[in-house]
Amino acid sequence: MKAIVIERPGRLSLETVPDPAPGPREVVVAVAACGICGTDLHILDGEYTSPYPIVPGHEFAGEVVAVGSEVGELAVGDRVAVDPSLPCKECDFCGTGRSNLCERFNAIGVSRPGAAAEYAVAPAANCHRIPDGMPLEHAALIEPLSCAVHGFDLLPRRPGDHYLIYGAGTMGLLMLQLARRSGAASVSVVDLNEERLDTARRLGADEVARNADAFDRPRGWETVIDCTGAVPAIEDGLTRVRRGGTFQFFGVAAADATARVSPFRIYNDEITLVGSMAVLHSFGRAVELLACGAVDASAMISHSFPLAEYERAIGAFRQGKGRKLQIRPAERTTS
Ligand SMILES: NC(=O)c1ccc[n+]([C@@H]2O[C@H](COP(=O)([O-])OP(=O)(O)OC[C@H]3O[C@@H](n4cnc5c(N)ncnc54)[C@H](O)[C@@H]3O)[C@@H](O)[C@H]2O)c1
Ligand SMILES: [Zn+2]
Ligand SMILES: [Zn+2]
Repeated sequence: MKAIVIERPGRLSLETVPDPAPGPREVVVAVAACGICGTDLHILDGEYTSPYPIVPGHEFAGEVVAVGSEVGELAVGDRVAVDPSLPCKECDFCGTGRSNLCERFNAIGVSRPGAAAEYAVAPAANCHRIPDGMPLEHAALIEPLSCAVHGFDLLPRRPGDHYLIYGAGTMGLLMLQLARRSGAASVSVVDLNEERLDTARRLGADEVARNADAFDRPRGWETVIDCTGAVPAIEDGLTRVRRGGTFQFFGVAAADATARVSPFRIYNDEITLVGSMAVLHSFGRAVELLACGAVDASAMISHSFPLAEYERAIGAFRQGKGRKLQIRPAERTTS
């Protein structure tokens, strides 16, 4: 089969590699669509602990084409979205229900061959069947949505709260749609990219701006979510939290980045700071949310690329082009 192989940081190529075979409790999925996200960039840029060479791609859906000898719950032809998480199931964190913090965490497309390929192998237990009417391209959004759902699980989620979201990329737009569903009184969105702000408005933002000064909420927002990972956005956002409110660090900042906070304000205004990391018990609910129309998947996906144009897709992602960019291995031509 054809696969994108990152030989070492900074070097990728389209290669022909052996077709994968499933282990006893695994299946092989013909990849229909695989989203690109910041994690792929980190792997390509050598900022991750991935073993090289690695086939990237962890946000994917497709059709089961082979099942292992001990798989009874899935059959060839089933349409599935795949949870890429492979926690060890043995460490303290796995044992206490926090497998996203696993000490020996692995993931498909991060430390095992991923879905920037015609076929990918996944444990049967990681495959979630999707409803008949759901396009596979839409189902490739379930993984990022499941991250957003976990983020939401960690927020107070009080009906009537006002939300302020920094970043209108895939994650900010998903958070916006979840907030709308969760009884937000209003959702305000900040981004530097005008095109993305237009999309945020289309997807239900009450107000959008390049700077939160444009919004008239002098007492602040009950919930502020950073979906940029950018220190200037984080520092600005921390000052916008209403007394008693919550700030969520959802964006991934550089490992050595620091941001200014006012300890006095955190104390005096009882502000909660909360992080959110990847997927935890949220994949199945993300399937349900996509199936019920809570997220406008068509509006979220802006470009698709065949495998041979993976590098071009990465370049477009780096430039902040469009919204969710996808690789569609079965496609031969650019769209
Ligand atoms: N916590 C998790 O589990 C999790 C999961 C997926 C992604 N992420 C992280 O979430 C963040 C968002 O992901 P994405 O796919 O939407 O990324 P993205 O790059 O598509 O979107 C980020 C947006 O932030 C905007 N931005 C950058 N600096 C800004 C600033 N100073 N003020 C306002 N806006 C600014 C950009 O214009 C861009 O539209 C990334 O850091 C990503 O790594 C976290
Ligand atoms: Zn991702
Ligand atoms: Zn573990």
